[in-house]
This record gives sequence, structure tokens and C-alpha cells, in this order.
Amino acid sequence: MKQEMEKYTKEDIEIWNYLFENQYKNLENKVCWEYMDCMNQLSSVLNSYEIPNFDHLNSKLKTATGWTVHVVPGLIEADLFFDHLRNKRFCASTWLRSRKELNYIEEPDMFHDIFGHIPLFMNQDYGAFAQKIGDLACKWKQDFIKIEQLQRLYWFTIEFGVISRQGKTKSYGAGIISSIKEATIVDEGKSVFIPYDIHKIIHQEYDIDTVQPRYFEITTFKQLYESLNELEVLFNNSAA
Ligand SMILES: [Fe+2]
Repeated sequence: MKQEMEKYTKEDIEIWNYLFENQYKNLENKVCWEYMDCMNQLSSVLNSYEIPNFDHLNSKLKTATGWTVHVVPGLIEADLFFDHLRNKRFCASTWLRSRKELNYIEEPDMFHDIFGHIPLFMNQDYGAFAQKIGDLACKWKQDFIKIEQLQRLYWFTIEFGVISRQGKTKSYGAGIISSIKEATIVDEGKSVFIPYDIHKIIHQEYDIDTVQPRYFEITTFKQLYESLNELEVLFNNSAA
């Protein structure tokens, strides 16, 4: 599948422009500096005034960290998704939400996938963490329990992760970053923030349809990557 730039309408461009401008402003002081730094590095190919061209985005990403955006029609099977992740390919949709869905969509669209997820793939530690989740998932693909645990880890980090910065909580998860409502709720500091603990995370169920009632808070992106060594040992020891 390829992105078809010529199919985007004037309305799509206006929606992208609105979503990007609003959320970029809203994120000021709510998001970790690494995300903003990565976003700035990508500003010539990821900005409010044009719909991102994945070929242009890929040439920047690939040069920096070896990651690329891989076009998918929507949600795909978990084993395929993890295999792409292992190969440093992040799966993204090319369709954009309508005006009626500006604040909430049921399935991830291009704004969630690209604005929310892609910038941090310019960060080496974050990218290494994501790739290793893919590695572990491919290694243990026959083990339903471990796959479910890796999905929980992905959920509480890449989708809904937060990071502690000088006593304040900043967001880095794409589910928060692409939502005005959730980014604001996290910033208000009234949610439950639990210090990052991979053992707790892999046993923590989650609900995909609501604002998250709890978030796990890391201190550095290196911590994320290093925690996978612990998980690897745990997985190896519990192998049948
Ligand atoms: Fe996502």
C-alpha cells in the first residue's frame, strides 16, 4: 500500500491544519521536551500547513534512526504489527478523521499515527525500546500470555506513557499527545501516576474506550529500554 497524496481534498488539508495547530499549542509545557525536540527536527516534513508526505518523512527518519513509516489500511493483526516494529517500521494509516470527529475517533487515523507517534522515533532510546518490544513479541509469538503482556507494556508506554520532569508529569504516549482532552487531564495532575514498574504493567488490564484511570511514569527513555532486559529474563525463566 502507498500513500496517495493526490487523493487528499481541500477539506482534509483544513482538518490537518486545524488539528496540528490546535494540539501543538495545547501541548506546550504538557509534553516532554524530547517530543518537541524531535518535532522541531522534523518541521520541514511535519508541520501544520501541509499533509505529511510519508516519502519525505521517511527520508528524514531513516537518516536519523533507521525507522520508516509503513502504510496500513487500519488496525492489523498483532503478529504482523510486531514484525514491522522489529524491522523498524511503524504502521500508519493515511486516512484522516472528518470534521464531526475532531475530538474523538474510534480507530487511529493519520493524525494519531503521525502527529502522535512518529516524532519520538527520532529518539534513539525510544526507538530501541519499540524495536525490542517487536523482537520479543516475534520470539514469543506462540505464547498468548506473553503477547498479552507485551501489548499491555506497549499500551502503558508507547500509547499512554508519561515521564516525570522536575516534579511535574509530562506526556510522551501518542494516545495522550493526539488528544486535547487527555493531554489536559494528565497536565492537571489529578490522575493516578504510578512509578514505572514493568512487573506491575504486564499484569495491569486496560480499557481502550475511556480516558485512562492510571498512568505509569518513567524518569528517562533509557529506563524504558533497560527495563526490557528484566522482562527478557522473566520471560526466559517462565518458558515452559
Ligand atoms: Fe497509537
